[in-house]
Amino acid sequence: MPAEESESRPLGAPLVVLGIETSCDETAAAVVVRDGAGRGRILSNVVRSQLAEHRPYGGVVPEIAARAHVECLDAIIRTALDEAGVTLDGLSGIAATAGPGLNGGLVVGLVTGKALALAAGKPFVAVNHLEAHALTVGLTEGLEPPYLMLLVSGGHTQTLLVEDVGRYRRLGTTIDDAIGEAFDKTAKLLGLGYPGGPEVEKAARSGDATRFPLPRPLVGRAEPHFSLAGLKTAVRQRAEAAAPLSERDVSDLCAAFEAAVCDVVVDRVGRAMDLVEPAFPSGAPRWLTVAGGVAANKSIAAALAKLAAGRGYRVSVPPAALCTDNGAMIAWAGAERLARGLVDDLAFAAKPRWPLDPDAPAAIGAGVKA
Ligand code: KG4
Ligand code: ZN
Repeated sequence: MPAEESESRPLGAPLVVLGIETSCDETAAAVVVRDGAGRGRILSNVVRSQLAEHRPYGGVVPEIAARAHVECLDAIIRTALDEAGVTLDGLSGIAATAGPGLNGGLVVGLVTGKALALAAGKPFVAVNHLEAHALTVGLTEGLEPPYLMLLVSGGHTQTLLVEDVGRYRRLGTTIDDAIGEAFDKTAKLLGLGYPGGPEVEKAARSGDATRFPLPRPLVGRAEPHFSLAGLKTAVRQRAEAAAPLSERDVSDLCAAFEAAVCDVVVDRVGRAMDLVEPAFPSGAPRWLTVAGGVAANKSIAAALAKLAAGRGYRVSVPPAALCTDNGAMIAWAGAERLARGLVDDLAFAAKPRWPLDPDAPAAIGAGVKA
């Protein structure tokens, strides 16, 4: 990629940034370098998942999450710095997730990041977790905006047009459950383990997707939003009608659920593509990027690949470890902001709700996740 300065990729001195992530159930820290040409390199990326702590409850328990972050964050930062071979003095800045996410966890990472910045006399960057997911392809592929982004995790389901660093247009969002959340709840009601996504995917592999008809909520609607709660309820009703469930019943229900989610995703992302069409310069490659834990689902990935090919898009999905929550994406978003002179005050407060596009109109019927 040519090292020319562009509006979206300013040149400058190399930046070494520590990133801290504590917004949900991963405690993570990483060190990333952004070189003078605006290219990124990961020096260290340390993630401690709290899955074991939350598994007995079938979901993330905010108080347990916050306490677990407190217990291990300092050691994780130490390891990230050691593995990168840098000291606090050698950093250009410190970035921490300030939202959106669970307040208790956000406060732990944010206070730690600010304290380190203050003690070391370094600039502090408060990072929006969604922005970090959205910019990861710049770190992994050197991809520059504009591109279309689908974020599908346990807490978020959104399509975004990434216009530039700091400029995002939210297209679709979920009006109820996130897709990962729907996988988790479906798994729970079918007696499968947590997290539900991989369990449902495994069970679906041997299932018949046509045996239990399920709805495709919002398919065909002009607004590109998502709705998953009704689908999960329909699975519950089918499961109750077929109880007691055999292993085959569970597989068939999982296959039907996964097929319905694929149809919904393809239709909704297709609709987002209709809306962003004018944003792409004619003749330039159009990119669809995917982030979040649900990106690991092979059926959804295949359905998206087919959609993209049919619509003339290329698809870029970061490696799984950078698709799910991690510190490298926070460090990289911090570096991208720092390169543009965007630094935050140490008074910056955690924002459990922090939409990337504050001007996006609320989805009709939207619940708390919108
Ligand atoms: O991005 P992520 O690791 O973290 C948070 O949301 O915090 O996403 C986790 C979500 C969970 O809901 C999990 O069930 C889902 O991603 N997930 C999957 C798969 N692997 C993880 N969903 C469907 N299929 C999968 N293979
Ligand atoms: Zn995330």
